[in-house]
Amino acid sequence: MRDVTRRDVVKSGLAASIGAWAMPAGTVARSGEADGAEEVTSHAAVTAVSRERLLLDFNWRFQLGHANDPAQDFGYGNGEEFAKTGEFMRVPSKPDFDVSGWRQVDLPHDWVVELPFENDPALYNQGFKPVGRAHPATSIGWYRRVFEIPAGDHGRRLGLEFDGVFRDCLVALNGIYLGRNLSGYAPFRFDISDVANYGGSNVLVVRADATEHEGWFYEGAGIYRHVWLVKTAPLHVAPGGTFVSSDVHGGAATVVVQTQVENESDGAPVCRIVSTVTDPSGKVVARAATAPARVAGWSGREFTQRIAVPHPALWSLEHPQLHRLTTVIEAGGVEVDRLETAFGIRTIRFDADHGFFLNGERVELKGTCNHQDHAGVGSALPDRLQYHRVERLKGMGCNAYRTSHNPPTAELLDACDRLGMLVLDETRMMASSEEAVSQFSRLIRRDRNHPCVFAWSIGNEEWFVQGSERGALIAAAMKRQAARLDPSRLVTEAMNGDWGKGLSGVVDIQGFNYFVGDIDAYHRDHPHQPSMATEIASTVSTRGIYEKDEVRGYLSAYDVNAPRWGSTAERWWTYFDARPFLAGGFVWTGFDYRGEPTPYQWPCISSHFGIMDTCGFPKDNYFYYQAWWGKAPVLHLFPHWNWLGKEGQEIEVWCHSNLERVELFLNGRSLGAQDVQRDVHLMWKVPYAAGKLEARGYKGGQVALTATQETTGAAARILLAADRPRVVADGEDVAVVEVRVVDATGRLVPLADDEITFRVSGSGRLIGVGNGDPSSHEQDKGAARRVFNGLCMAIVQAAKAAGEIQIEATAPGLASGLLSINCEAATPRAAVA
Ligand code: GAL
Repeated sequence: MRDVTRRDVVKSGLAASIGAWAMPAGTVARSGEADGAEEVTSHAAVTAVSRERLLLDFNWRFQLGHANDPAQDFGYGNGEEFAKTGEFMRVPSKPDFDVSGWRQVDLPHDWVVELPFENDPALYNQGFKPVGRAHPATSIGWYRRVFEIPAGDHGRRLGLEFDGVFRDCLVALNGIYLGRNLSGYAPFRFDISDVANYGGSNVLVVRADATEHEGWFYEGAGIYRHVWLVKTAPLHVAPGGTFVSSDVHGGAATVVVQTQVENESDGAPVCRIVSTVTDPSGKVVARAATAPARVAGWSGREFTQRIAVPHPALWSLEHPQLHRLTTVIEAGGVEVDRLETAFGIRTIRFDADHGFFLNGERVELKGTCNHQDHAGVGSALPDRLQYHRVERLKGMGCNAYRTSHNPPTAELLDACDRLGMLVLDETRMMASSEEAVSQFSRLIRRDRNHPCVFAWSIGNEEWFVQGSERGALIAAAMKRQAARLDPSRLVTEAMNGDWGKGLSGVVDIQGFNYFVGDIDAYHRDHPHQPSMATEIASTVSTRGIYEKDEVRGYLSAYDVNAPRWGSTAERWWTYFDARPFLAGGFVWTGFDYRGEPTPYQWPCISSHFGIMDTCGFPKDNYFYYQAWWGKAPVLHLFPHWNWLGKEGQEIEVWCHSNLERVELFLNGRSLGAQDVQRDVHLMWKVPYAAGKLEARGYKGGQVALTATQETTGAAARILLAADRPRVVADGEDVAVVEVRVVDATGRLVPLADDEITFRVSGSGRLIGVGNGDPSSHEQDKGAARRVFNGLCMAIVQAAKAAGEIQIEATAPGLASGLLSINCEAATPRAAVA
């Protein structure tokens, strides 16, 4: 059993000033100490009240404030905010504050995605959205929510949990300052038990200040993740206080369950933990109870259990099977808390010569780095979009995700757990300061039960310190903290150089960013350190474009362009595929994101690094990875075949295929066959003539697949297809609708740019549109969008009432697209009224 001391608690940042995921002040005892085992007490701590976790996402009010002018910032900054308890952010905190000038919004909400684009070179990183110190009128966001707390809650412990607010936010309840949270990515929590108005209404006010950035990429702003109101008995499992890990030997598992219990009351109840494990089918496979132990008043205690699970269904990429732990605290024979935790039983291991092993089998990390924004919604993604994105990544054989460069939202990890995708989980701030360690600790405590998480990343390209002793000391402090909170995973840092210096000697896994040094030489000189490419490629391309266009800011989608530090897909993958000591790598990036439009400036507003565009539409490299990462046969032929005016000119025709041999035909005439070499594309130079290009892919002498590109007719109609035929009526679910402009025979018109207007009626609403054009300045929140090279996308969100959602897409001169999605009755998640 681990001896948790007060020093640990303070050092670990668990008792950080903002109270995030904090343990109570006072001593933390170990279970099993001889301090009384009789189950007596009549204190409120043992009242049988079950835990409630209520979503606090709906019916907020929102208004922009002002960073420099208190008069435009609801009086904030007039100098007396901190003078008296109860006068904090006093204007909007007043119960009778007139909110009629504030918009009604639901969370998650990103106000930056709603702002118009501005051509200011200083806004390059943020995707040319006016946010930052130079834009005081659009960089402060106010949120206000009024809600009831029943009188019967008096005596319970109440906490507000924020999954992520960008950024530097101040939070007040009923005019009383709850705290401030700097990080735009780490979760945080405030206890409101002392300041709640029981039996009446409560005014919650959040002021988010996005005048500073934390990254060099689009970050959005606002309460862009969920908020929860959590109610428990005074004696309860501490926030983030469950840790499940497992050992598997000879097919049997030992599940180690650590439970931190918090007692927020004067009494000193005796309690025990009853842990129940259910298998993926819901069957109970193990149950264990601890010996009773006393938890002193306003203190905590850690219980450890080792539970045998004889024949566990392991979590793997192909079968991502989840077990469930039910933690019950019993005191005085009464159940006082109950908490469910999903977890996976699996083993992970790194080997310096052979890479990464999951459940004893080598798995090559076929990874992508990603930022968190998506077309249409900015950084405020409904949960379902996380699944949609992970499904898209899996579709090309990707099996690993790096949360570059910040803590993700918890739902991304849920999606990766359930769909089978490994995660390199990264914190934002690499430092040994209390703030940085607190952010990292909150990440670990929240995420350590997710089987998808295979390692922690303490930072990215920290070139001021990574090569120095200072960097080594910082890394050592962070590594110590990771080991305290989660001894089951290793630590890495994404280093762009300085390999072998500074923190290289501290991290467990050497993270290589790009080919900025000699990887083979590093391995030779450090034969005992596992390694992987934490970041690689940065190949740049634009979907559906085959000629560079510097005016519009487009790059060809052939696998040929990369910045100085980057490489083509083929170059890096050929190198890594041949070296088993490398555990694999993470491509920069899976999806395009806003900001960093390298190598361009305005009018480009989003990056070109994605294997997919900002909507998740595949670029041609998607099929390169699918061919060499996936298992299924692939034959992908490009470019399109609409080259009017180029008759007779040579066009490069490429094929990404993992078959054995491919023969190309133009209008029925063979242009020759070529053998496929592992990890390498095929190419023919073809004088253009309109018609039909056809590739026939052979395996074992037989045609296994064919692929065609045909010269299309003019755009004639709009086709709509949703990612799913039905959604659930919970007010949160979304369908992603793909819009294609096709010719009279149904072929995608590759150069179409028609403006599509959407009308959504019935049980849903349109929440965002996009087209993946890195230079489009159209509004994500508008009702219209041009198709870009034939495609655009609409995100439709379910209402809370069941019924049909009708989507109509129209454009002048085109036959309209119509789609109906079934919005099925569902019980929405428990939410604050
Ligand atoms: C890396 C950096 C990423 C991104 C990328 C672009 O060096 O870690 O965040 O900027 O370059 O190629």
